[in-house]
Amino acid sequence: MQNNIFSGLFVGQNLLTLKEVDSTNNFLKNILSNSKPVPEGTVIMAETQFAGRGQQNNQWHSEPGKNLTFSILLKPTFLAVADQFDLTRAVSLGVYDALCPILGDQLKIKWPNDIYYGDKKLGGMLIENLLQGQQIKSAIIGIGLNINQEIFPDGASNATSVKQILQKDYDLRFILAEICNNIEAYYLNLKAGKIDFVRNTYLNRLYWFKQNKRFKAAGTEFNGTITGVKENGLLVVDSNNKETTYNLKEIEFLNNK
Ligand code: BTN
Repeated sequence: MQNNIFSGLFVGQNLLTLKEVDSTNNFLKNILSNSKPVPEGTVIMAETQFAGRGQQNNQWHSEPGKNLTFSILLKPTFLAVADQFDLTRAVSLGVYDALCPILGDQLKIKWPNDIYYGDKKLGGMLIENLLQGQQIKSAIIGIGLNINQEIFPDGASNATSVKQILQKDYDLRFILAEICNNIEAYYLNLKAGKIDFVRNTYLNRLYWFKQNKRFKAAGTEFNGTITGVKENGLLVVDSNNKETTYNLKEIEFLNNK
């Protein structure tokens, strides 16, 4: 039998590694629209991205060859558009479970889908769904994780890497395989209808969950406590016994205050 560290059924079984590309999300989007059908679970990994994209139109910078920058194709046609945040939950949990044995419980998921260690960002994801009516036809799951990068530019003072935390280099392919295997496991849970399990586990891994912290919304700073995440992914924060829901653009987490 082949010694395959990708032990799942489909995520990572078709893996393409590129030396250089603008963005693995763009690459996957292009091959989806231009070529014959692309199998579910296909992974495009890049050593270098020269136009990596982050959340909210930000750029994603990553030192060539040092980190994980990859995109996974999923076809969650079983998921209603209204439930698309469940995919974000499943993918975040897959990344979390892959890294947790290495990094321990200082690892958290910062709503909606950043991977944090302590108060620093280890990575994030850009999920782009292609919709058809009320269904998600395909989802491009772009993931960037800082693994072996030691120095970050001044503008990225909140970034950290596995190497900065553990002072050790890690094998990128090994971590990639663990992530693929764990994402597949959560994805199959979703597919099997175990939505409550996925939602509850996500909450239990959430950064600042049930802690009194400082936030900023609509130009005003306030103390509040994250009490939940709505089905559709909105964050629920309690302040002075009043719960308000926020989308990503509406609320800022204020660290060190
Ligand atoms: C974030 O802003 O936190 C999301 C970062 C997502 C970066 C990854 S790297 C692989 C994939 N390709 C991209 O252009 N972006 C995502």
